[in-house]
Amino acid sequence: MKRGHFITIEGNEGAGKSTIAVMILDYLRTKGLEVVATREPGGIAIAEQIRAIVLDNGNTAMDGRTEALLYAAARRQHYVEKIVPTLEQGKTILCDRFIDSSLAYQGYARGLGIDEVMSINAFATDGGLPDLTIYLDVDPEVGIERIHAHGDREINRLDLESMSFHHRVREGYLQALARFPGRIRRVDANPGVEDVFVEVRAVLERYFSERE
Ligand code: TYD
Repeated sequence: MKRGHFITIEGNEGAGKSTIAVMILDYLRTKGLEVVATREPGGIAIAEQIRAIVLDNGNTAMDGRTEALLYAAARRQHYVEKIVPTLEQGKTILCDRFIDSSLAYQGYARGLGIDEVMSINAFATDGGLPDLTIYLDVDPEVGIERIHAHGDREINRLDLESMSFHHRVREGYLQALARFPGRIRRVDANPGVEDVFVEVRAVLERYFSERE
């Protein structure tokens, strides 16, 4: 059986990831693909339990490496229990956040080092990477403003970080993009959602046309 497509969506806070993810899901299903949508940290019971620890507003004492290892541990379990078996059944995976979140947040923004974080993640996924990553790039001021304006999502421990942290996250994503230019596709997420999706759809069309 032909292995399914492994697609991830990434972005800094308030990039509109969840809304665009729903539109991507719809696009992929319209193409006739069988798609499983999932997210990190989480996606399966063990990883959701780790998610609760890592995003707990009370855990302000959490060390940066502890955080990176917890994300990688959650990823490992999600990868072997859900992502790989689903791909092997020929289904497409659409995952909200994956390794590049760790590179941007832990590797760059927390200063642990992109290479160091890449190596624990390579251990977690046996070196496996997505086939395509869509990175929604929003100006951090615009992103945080959107989160506050909507008030439709609980503010978590990472949202509470300073503005300079969010700028570093964006810089971290740009570094990941420079490292994986073929896999990661950047889309400007500052305009309204309809305009952003026009660009996202173009990225998807190009990806599929290169494979068909
Ligand atoms: P979540 O509530 O899923 O937020 P979002 O809608 O922004 O995806 O929270 C996930 C948070 O965890 C988010 O702030 C990014 C962070 N994160 C990391 O720092 N490293 C990682 O590897 C992952 C997967 C997430």
